[in-house]
Amino acid sequence: MLCLGIETSCDETAVALVNDGQLIDQRLASQIDVHAVFGGVVPEIASREHLRILPTLFRELVKENGVDPQEIDTVAVARGPGLLGALLIGLSFAKALSLSCNARLVGVNHLWAHLLASGLERSIPFPAMGLLVSGGHTHTYRIGSPVEFDLLGKTLDDAAGEAFDKVAKTLNFPYPGGKYVDMLAQGVEPDKKLFPRAFIDNPSLDFSFSGLKTAVAVYVQAHQEVVLPHMGEGDCAAFLEALSPEAREHVACICASFNWSVADTLRIKVERALKKTGHVKSLVVAGGVAANSIIRKTMADLADRYGLQLVLPSLGLCTDNASMIAYAGELLAQNGFEHDLTLEAIPRGRIVPMDWLIRRGG
Ligand code: KG4
Ligand code: ZN
Repeated sequence: MLCLGIETSCDETAVALVNDGQLIDQRLASQIDVHAVFGGVVPEIASREHLRILPTLFRELVKENGVDPQEIDTVAVARGPGLLGALLIGLSFAKALSLSCNARLVGVNHLWAHLLASGLERSIPFPAMGLLVSGGHTHTYRIGSPVEFDLLGKTLDDAAGEAFDKVAKTLNFPYPGGKYVDMLAQGVEPDKKLFPRAFIDNPSLDFSFSGLKTAVAVYVQAHQEVVLPHMGEGDCAAFLEALSPEAREHVACICASFNWSVADTLRIKVERALKKTGHVKSLVVAGGVAANSIIRKTMADLADRYGLQLVLPSLGLCTDNASMIAYAGELLAQNGFEHDLTLEAIPRGRIVPMDWLIRRGG
C-alpha cells in the first residue's frame, strides 16, 4: 500500500512516502529560523509558511521518486493535536489530494504517530508502555496494539519540552533550547538538591513541570552572571565564550541538575505506571525530548531493570516528521480505518476522537 504522510501540526512542514511499512523517501522544511527571532512559534506565521511550502515539498517528493500521484493508495495527515491554523493547511491539502487521486483519507493522531515511529526501524513488541515527551505533551500510554492506546498519565501544566525550552530561554540560549541544555549537561555531575522533582509525592501518574521551571527561573534570577549577554541565535557554543570559565561551569551545572530532575521525574512516573498496568513487553519512548541523552540513558536503565525491550527512535525520527504520519496512517488503513471529507482538525488541549469510518472488508 503506497501511503503519503503529511505533517503540519506545528513548525515543521513535511511529507513522506511509505510503502508496506518501508520508508521510501521524505521531505522536511523546518521553520525554526522564521520563529527563532520571536523566541517561540507564532501560529499565524506557521500557517502561512505551511501554505507556501507544502505544495513544493509534495511536488519534489513525488517527482524525485518517480511516483505518479494517481498511484497513492492512502493520504495520511496529522489531524491533531496541534496549532489549529497549521493543521488546517495539511488537512485541506490532504482532502483535495485524496479526492483528486481517489485515495483513501486517514486522519492521524500526531501523538500516536510519535510513539509508532520506531516501527519504521524495528518491530515494536506489544503490549508496550509508551512515554511521549514532546514540546507540547508529556503522556504515558499502555499501547495494546498500533490502534489501541490507553492514556495513563499526562502533564497538568507544562510539557517536558516546554520546560526545557523555557529554562533555555531564561539562560538566553537559542530557540528551541532543549538540545543546548542537553549539550551543556553532557558529562556534568548534577546537583540533585538544586531543583525539585515536582508532583512525585502522591500516587498520581500525571506530571507537573511548571514548578521546576519556576525554580530554575528564580535561581537564575539570583545568579545573573550565568545568563548569556543576549538571546543567542544559531551556535550556542560561540555565545558561551562570552561567559567567564566559572560562569560556564555554573551554567553547565544548572543544565545538568535541571535535566536530571526532569529525567528522574519521568523515571518515577513511568515506573509507577509499569507497576499499575502489569505485564508489558517493551518501553517505547518518543517525541522531540526523547532525543535527550540523559532521558535516553535513564529509560534504558529502567527498561533493563524491568526486563523490557527499550524502543527508542533514532534522533531524526524523534522530532516532528511526516514519515511517522505515513507509517501510522498506513497501519490504520491496513486495519480498515479511514475518514471522509468531514475530517476535523483538533487543536491542542482537545482529545483526538477515534471517529474513523470502518471500511467494509478493510
Ligand atoms: O516532538 P517535537 O519535535 O515537537 C512537538 O510535537 O512538540 O518536540 C520538540 C521539543 C522541543 O521542546 C525541543 O526543545 C525538544 O523537543 N528537544 C529536546 C532535545 N531535542 C529536542 N529537549 C531536550 N533534549 C534534547 N536533546
Ligand atoms: Zn510532535
